[in-house]
Amino acid sequence: MQLRSTSRGTRESTHTEVDVVAIGTREATWGADPLEFEGGFRSLEYDPKASFRSSLPTDGAARWNVTSAKTFDSTHSVNSSLSIGYSNVDWDFLKSIYGWAAVQYQAWARGELIVGGNETQAVILHTDAILEFWVNNTHYFGGDFYSYRNAPPVLHLDPGRHRIDLRLARDVRAFGGILEPTIDVVVGVEKVSGSLDLAKPGILMSDVIDGYLATPQGSISLRNSGTRDIEITGIHPANVSTNFSTVFPLLRLSTGDQMLVARDAEGIMSAESMHDTADKSNVRIAAGQTRSVAFNITLSPKNASSIAYNVTYEIVGTGKTSSLEVTQTLNHVSTYHPHKITYLHPGGTVSYAMLRPPAKNATCKHKQNKLPVLLALHGAGLEADDPMVTEALDPVSDLCAWVVFATGVTPWSGDDWHNWGFADVEAAIDAIPSWISSSRWLGPGVDTNRWIVSGHSNGGQGTWYTTTHRPDKVLAAIPVSGYSSIQKYVPYELWQPADPRRTSVISAALNSYRHEMLMDNIRGIPIQVQHGEIDDNVPAYHSRLLALQLQFAGTNASYNEVPNQNHWWDDIMTTPELIEFYHKQVSNMEKLPRELEEFDIVVGDPGDMGSKGGVKVTQLEDPGNYGRVHVRGRTVKTSNVLSIEFGPPFWKDTVVIDGQTLDFTAATNKERLSVHLSRNVWIVQDTTTLEESHGRHGRQLGSMTAILRTHGPVTIHHPDSANASHLALQVSRNLQQYFRANSMLLAGNAKTRSDSTTGNVIRLAIGAAASSTTADFPIKVSSSGVSIRDYRGREQSYSEARGAAWLQPLDSERLELVLWGADDEGLGQAARLIPMLTGVGQPDFVVLSEKAKWKGLDGVLALGFFDSEWQVTPSSFVS
Ligand SMILES: *[C@@H]1O[C@H](CO)[C@@H](O)[C@H](O)[C@H]1NC(C)=O
Ligand SMILES: *[C@@H]1O[C@H](CO)[C@@H](O)[C@H](O)[C@H]1NC(C)=O
Ligand SMILES: *[C@@H]1O[C@H](CO)[C@@H](O)[C@H](O)[C@H]1NC(C)=O
Ligand SMILES: *[C@@H]1O[C@H](CO)[C@@H](O)[C@H](O)[C@H]1NC(C)=O
Ligand SMILES: *[C@@H]1O[C@H](CO)[C@@H](O)[C@H](O)[C@H]1NC(C)=O
Ligand SMILES: *[C@@H]1O[C@H](CO)[C@@H](O)[C@H](O)[C@H]1NC(C)=O
Ligand SMILES: *[C@@H]1O[C@H](CO)[C@@H](O)[C@H](O)[C@H]1NC(C)=O
Ligand SMILES: *[C@@H]1O[C@H](CO)[C@@H](O)[C@H](O)[C@H]1NC(C)=O
Ligand SMILES: *[C@@H]1O[C@H](CO)[C@@H](O)[C@H](O)[C@H]1NC(C)=O
Ligand SMILES: *[C@@H]1O[C@H](CO)[C@@H](O)[C@H](O)[C@H]1NC(C)=O
Repeated sequence: MQLRSTSRGTRESTHTEVDVVAIGTREATWGADPLEFEGGFRSLEYDPKASFRSSLPTDGAARWNVTSAKTFDSTHSVNSSLSIGYSNVDWDFLKSIYGWAAVQYQAWARGELIVGGNETQAVILHTDAILEFWVNNTHYFGGDFYSYRNAPPVLHLDPGRHRIDLRLARDVRAFGGILEPTIDVVVGVEKVSGSLDLAKPGILMSDVIDGYLATPQGSISLRNSGTRDIEITGIHPANVSTNFSTVFPLLRLSTGDQMLVARDAEGIMSAESMHDTADKSNVRIAAGQTRSVAFNITLSPKNASSIAYNVTYEIVGTGKTSSLEVTQTLNHVSTYHPHKITYLHPGGTVSYAMLRPPAKNATCKHKQNKLPVLLALHGAGLEADDPMVTEALDPVSDLCAWVVFATGVTPWSGDDWHNWGFADVEAAIDAIPSWISSSRWLGPGVDTNRWIVSGHSNGGQGTWYTTTHRPDKVLAAIPVSGYSSIQKYVPYELWQPADPRRTSVISAALNSYRHEMLMDNIRGIPIQVQHGEIDDNVPAYHSRLLALQLQFAGTNASYNEVPNQNHWWDDIMTTPELIEFYHKQVSNMEKLPRELEEFDIVVGDPGDMGSKGGVKVTQLEDPGNYGRVHVRGRTVKTSNVLSIEFGPPFWKDTVVIDGQTLDFTAATNKERLSVHLSRNVWIVQDTTTLEESHGRHGRQLGSMTAILRTHGPVTIHHPDSANASHLALQVSRNLQQYFRANSMLLAGNAKTRSDSTTGNVIRLAIGAAASSTTADFPIKVSSSGVSIRDYRGREQSYSEARGAAWLQPLDSERLELVLWGADDEGLGQAARLIPMLTGVGQPDFVVLSEKAKWKGLDGVLALGFFDSEWQVTPSSFVS
């Protein structure tokens, strides 16, 4: 494949060379590239006679092949799309044995980027559906697996030929299971200004309802495509008097100041003064970095059709200032229609949801002042403002509920509605009261602790997640065509073989998302499950299985299987059964939390688990195993649970835990009572004691994905070297790409600056330079490798360790994720482990050997979990 990036616009006939090798579901993060055993694809030259061992094709041999890419080019961009298929693999036979796992495979492709002219070009490189690639000898991991195009890398290419090697990994969930087993990817090259650019057109802002902005929070997504850092100095309303006849995107590369201007509106734009919320010290955008900048918008006049803002900035170290103009067409809608509201995600970035307030003519039978929230969670690949999402509940326009079509920040809901995505759902719900108080709303109020949850596909899975993790808030649930867990969706067969003790750790890291194991948590909640009988995307098996598990858990789920229907059809969310259920549940007057005589709580990760029946597990003894609480009346029995909080209104007086009677009357804090297992004896504890102790608690709990529970942007610390800076930038881009999460890059030992922030920290370290934040931490690194103290107190040393990643505590419930490398290359290996895709299963700590590059998980030297004292758990693999 050749990507011609010149302004001449010539179209080139193209080719590429590939091979085929097996890979498992979400395995690529661990390495598992057999060609690495032979020095890596980058070290190979095209040779039609060469063959490579592979478990998939005829003869067990993969070979080079030549394929044409389709290339489309214009003055400013080139797209090259590549479709790869194999005739020497019997996919159908493999599928009959291994199922969808068989049609997940990996391949490498090579092409060239050719830059004409005689000037260095600043370009961005889009890598749709690609996780890993090399440009010449520079490695990029993270790519753009879901084709978001949020944060592409910036390349400054000299005239000439640049080799580009693409690692292609087929993923059934991302590519579709029923389709031909081809890999279809797009590489896009786009010319950029070489200075500050808009990374997304326009302004992320709310709709205008009856002449007023629904919410004030706005955000502009910016990319520094230059070679020096940029400091944003202000965002001010701009006066634009030009008439634009062109529709967006109009890209103008002005010759003078090299500023790329994007405009998306016609007519005269105006806006009143605003407040620059951008904390100055935060808004530095490193060369090559993408981040969003938040600010408050005020609207004037009421009938404006668009607004314009002027972002002023300084190029650090040059004293040069410049500005970038951003405009946004305003969307005027009625208060009662689904409309965009904005709010701050706890990660510090502005996000949005679509809100449908209760209809004007809604006749709520009972005299409720506060109506419940009806959550509608979208499927994978959809934006919440897509009419397919917002119009799905039109047939029930008069429901007595506040309908929230949540986004989860991205079309894949961040991490499938888990840590990052679910925090967004909760932030959206919490935005309703401020919407009510700032709008001129006179209708019914909202009870933000009373949810009816619904969703389709990945949103159906999100519905299961919400119901199993927030049982005390869920009034009723409607999971439609949802999958039960990623492992059940596309089996983890065909990973490189690995010691079961290692795979069990990966599996345990996903405990909180294995809904089929968590059905006990749903007991007492009305559930209407629905699935199309002939769904060939998410098989009806998932819903049938969960309905059965619910029966085992003592819950009567109503299961509606719709004959002859596939994954999606018109009115799927408003079948007669669902309509009846919505109406019944919006007027369900049950008190929450429910007081159940007997129930169980199953906990995979206390960090993302709410209460049930007022009982909240706050710590597990070994977070590598499920914890369980059985409650019958006032008698509580626990397994693998270390601390529990008992909340009002049911828990006062006395409780018998594991045969021991505890007196709650004497406790100082009557609101929440915390009990803790200390040397096999349960003791009542002041909840504040736990929070003040150095023990692992709250947002620190969970596996590596806990780093996503940051409050505020993530700080990325890195050594002051070219390679470490490249990796830090890559980490920053990955956070932006997959979660639209902002981060700050800090080189060298600028420790004080990150200590004054509220967010989590990712620290890159090489050689002996990594030190833990607490003395006596079980993981130590030195120039001779990594050593780990296991749960028996035994030190294991790994001199062959190349890279490692582990969580360690910071104050205020924060976390630091250390990425350590024996050298630059080892650090690159460790940096792959940053959470991006769900289902990878990174636990709390991982130590990698060189062999992981080709053997994947089995090349991991040690991995596992930390307990509440930050000590290695028995469930860990350390040997
Ligand atoms: C390349 O793809 C992007 C995204 O689909 C599109 O916006 C752009 O116009 C395409 N460019 C060309 C030259 O086809
Ligand atoms: C080589 O590539 C072509 C084009 O993609 C494909 O049709 C063919 O099956 C491939 N050959 C083998 C042996 O897989
Ligand atoms: C660069 O190319 C342009 C036209 O393509 C030519 O006019 C100019 O002289 C060249 N400059 C150099 C330094 O070669
Ligand atoms: C890639 O290598 C070629 C040939 O050595 C060189 O001309 C080109 O500048 C390199 N590109 C990059 C991005 O390093
Ligand atoms: C944007 O701000 C710059 C610097 O203050 C100013 O020179 C420029 O005129 C402004 N542009 C608009 C359209 O307001
Ligand atoms: C924009 O227009 C307003 C009112 O018309 C005026 O007060 C303000 O000074 C103008 N701002 C700029 C940057 O021209
Ligand atoms: C922006 O608006 C929000 C919500 O009204 C408010 O809490 C915040 O203080 C405002 N920020 C600034 C800098 O005015
Ligand atoms: C806004 O309203 C004013 C006064 O009612 C009117 O003169 C103006 O044309 C309107 N502008 C737009 C863009 O509709
Ligand atoms: C409320 O109005 C909507 C549309 O305006 C209509 O579809 C619905 O039937 C009405 N409901 C009631 C209870 O009148
Ligand atoms: C569950 O279903 C059984 C059998 O249909 C019925 O007897 C029972 O009352 C139901 N329980 C609940 C809580 O709805």
